[in-house]
Amino acid sequence: VSARHRVLGVSGSLRAGSSNTGLVRLAARLAPDELDVHVVDWIDRLPYYNADLEAGAPEVVVQWREAVARADAIVIGLPEYNWGPSGVLKNAIDWATRPFGGHALKDKVIALLTSAGKSGGVHVQESLGPILGLIGNVVVTEPPVQIAMGPSRISADGHTDDPEIVELVAAKMAAVAAALRDRSSRASAGV
Ligand SMILES: Cc1cc2nc3c(=O)[nH]c(=O)nc-3n(C[C@H](O)[C@H](O)[C@H](O)COP(=O)(O)O)c2cc1C
Repeated sequence: VSARHRVLGVSGSLRAGSSNTGLVRLAARLAPDELDVHVVDWIDRLPYYNADLEAGAPEVVVQWREAVARADAIVIGLPEYNWGPSGVLKNAIDWATRPFGGHALKDKVIALLTSAGKSGGVHVQESLGPILGLIGNVVVTEPPVQIAMGPSRISADGHTDDPEIVELVAAKMAAVAAALRDRSSRASAGV
């Protein structure tokens, strides 16, 4: 019997019709049974990061840090804005990486799912992926989920008529589950 793992799903696009939110919802539906996916859809309520707010951090910041801390893995619907991540997502990441030395966003298995323009979001994944690694996480790079012209192919509720997208997202979630299993077995072997 495999252990259950907690997965946090979050989208970096606030648009009601967001295809990146759709990728997160599709990922939640296709996740193997051993993964419990919980979607957070309120990162837009986080204030802009400001170190002056650290003492007595706002409740929403505390909740966000707890949601990240509880998760074994994080699945991010990651739009590409000018070759980089959206501001709202970068802000949420920055909050989760403080306080320095005791932050929540480490030792996570992370999957990036992008629906973007013609490039499919290769640039944003090439930039944010290694950064999440430097912060102390394991990014599941295979198979890449970089959907070109995704907004016309995926609805915000995660519907798509394209079986290749379904197959790709299912394979990504299977890879997340495999990475978590691998991590658990190494932890129990004391490696
Ligand atoms: C400010 C801005 C910058 C963008 N820059 C890029 C880009 O560099 N590369 C790209 O492929 N698409 C770019 N796009 C298009 C977005 O990737 C596209 O709108 C995205 O799929 C929207 O995601 P959503 O459906 O989740 O809202 C940009 C869109 C915006 C609003």
